[in-house]
Amino acid sequence: MCGIFGYVGFKSNAAQIALEGLKLLEYRGYDSWGVAVKLGKKLVVEKHIGKITLAKTELPKSSLGIGHTRWATHGGVTITNAHPHLDCSGEIAVVHNGIVENFEDLKHELVAKGHDFKSGTDTEVIAHLIEDYIGKERSLQGFASSVRDAFNRLKGLSAIVVAYAPSSEIIAVKTGSPLVVGVLKNELFVASDASAIVQHTKKVLFLEDRQMVILGKKLQLLRLPEGKQIIPIFHTINWEFAKAQKGKHKHFLLKEIHEQPKVIENIALHYIEETQQLSKLITDAFGTFMLGCGSASYAALAGTYLFSRIAKKHVNFSIGSEFTYLEDYLTPESLLIAISQSGETIDVVEPVEKAKKKGSQIAALVNVLGSTLYRQANHKILLGAGVEKAVISTKSFIAMISVLLLTAYTMAKRQNEAQEMLRLAANNIRLILQDSYVKHIKTLSKKLSRTQYVFVIGRGLSYAIALETTLKLKETSYTHAEGFAGGELKHGVIALIEKGTPCIVIAPQDETYNEIISNAQQIKARGGYIVGIGSRKNDVFDLFFETADVGDATMLPQVVIAQLIAYYTALAKGISDPDKPRNLAKSVTVK
Ligand code: F6R
Repeated sequence: MCGIFGYVGFKSNAAQIALEGLKLLEYRGYDSWGVAVKLGKKLVVEKHIGKITLAKTELPKSSLGIGHTRWATHGGVTITNAHPHLDCSGEIAVVHNGIVENFEDLKHELVAKGHDFKSGTDTEVIAHLIEDYIGKERSLQGFASSVRDAFNRLKGLSAIVVAYAPSSEIIAVKTGSPLVVGVLKNELFVASDASAIVQHTKKVLFLEDRQMVILGKKLQLLRLPEGKQIIPIFHTINWEFAKAQKGKHKHFLLKEIHEQPKVIENIALHYIEETQQLSKLITDAFGTFMLGCGSASYAALAGTYLFSRIAKKHVNFSIGSEFTYLEDYLTPESLLIAISQSGETIDVVEPVEKAKKKGSQIAALVNVLGSTLYRQANHKILLGAGVEKAVISTKSFIAMISVLLLTAYTMAKRQNEAQEMLRLAANNIRLILQDSYVKHIKTLSKKLSRTQYVFVIGRGLSYAIALETTLKLKETSYTHAEGFAGGELKHGVIALIEKGTPCIVIAPQDETYNEIISNAQQIKARGGYIVGIGSRKNDVFDLFFETADVGDATMLPQVVIAQLIAYYTALAKGISDPDKPRNLAKSVTVK
């Protein structure tokens, strides 16, 4: 996580350019932010705690600047720990995305040599290490080789941008964490992703691992460890700068929830070829594994049920961070389906990289064009959910589920049926989003805002939806929610049920209905307060949220109800910015 940005060019408002770039990268972390600009032969630094959203900068005019928006890993959220970090002389400034795994060893070494550390971060060692390599003579020529030598000593995955006061160049280098360079005549940009650059230029260079770029009057690309010059291959990105607006909605989260019917309809109508290709890949593969983290992992879990029941196909699933330990059985005949909104989640990117080395086929379901996973994959499906600004996944999750549902039905040669279900689900969601329905949801949210914990249960496909419901509740409203497969409760969890304990029951009218109702009865018998979400009312429900019965696509309106419950619970608890929940970031690029 963390967003990094650099500018060098002929304009004199580098600080402003960096600030605007960082605002577009804020979703990568919003604990603190900072910018450094070159002023003569000095660097001037400004740092702040908190979000950059409305920030202004007082920095002087300059044509060279670097900046950072932080998601804290090492060291608390303080001004001192905010980036850029400086060396002892204050002439070297570093912004960093990633983790220096060997920072303690390096710090001991540098402290022993007399370096004076100010922060509790791992990043600061990079500034001092570069200083150490530059040496006392402080030659300008030594800047690039010192960054190279310092970076070669770092363990872990990192992307850095470095400014050196006497120099008119900035240097960027990466392994693991993403970096994109934007190229204009007499201006060069570097950022954690292209969204922060695309309003300036569409000509970009995606840095590969262990590549270092020197940006000044010209651009030089070098390959590490030795620093050999290589020829850059530029890409033109054909995307427009989309400055997402909230429109009439109070938060992006609510706006994105409202966009979901369109996302589903678009998939139902336009994803025939993509899902046919994906279903062929699965049919031809000898073993298919879906990977994702957080909400994407629940989409993948739902996928396993769909492929099994509808397509009669065993498709495995693993959360991204665990797949590293399961990869031994991959072969060139295996297919890996990476599912990710950002396309940058390191816990998915890294296993995909390893699988590629084994010759396995890679398909990616991603929302961000040009992202690392998009570029890694042999077969790419863009989710088409549009820019998702709220940190919490809503429309991208809905898109993942819709694509997987369409693919499973395509494999079973029942594509038309799935298209119809998706269209009906979209219509049903439109009804759910109306004020009269939302009023009902707000009543529950008020109750949940006074509750310490909530349980959510479901079986089969609805087990995945139960897990997604709890994640929405936890991250949006900070309510402790636990999701379980309905049958699991009696194996221990039921001990937690007391009088009034809220339990949400995901109860579509499918093969799970009777049994999940029995589970609800078991909870009710112990005093639980039962909230049903589904298409068939039952006496066991104390409160009922009705959806249409749209077959397997019923999970889509069910998820939307869960999203709304979470959103309004957050508001009822007085959470002022549900778009940016505490401690989170939209793009998780550290392990
Ligand atoms: C949940 C959420 C996270 C992400 C997870 C994966 O609302 O936003 O759990 O789903 O971090 O992110 P992507 O999909 O970008 O790989």
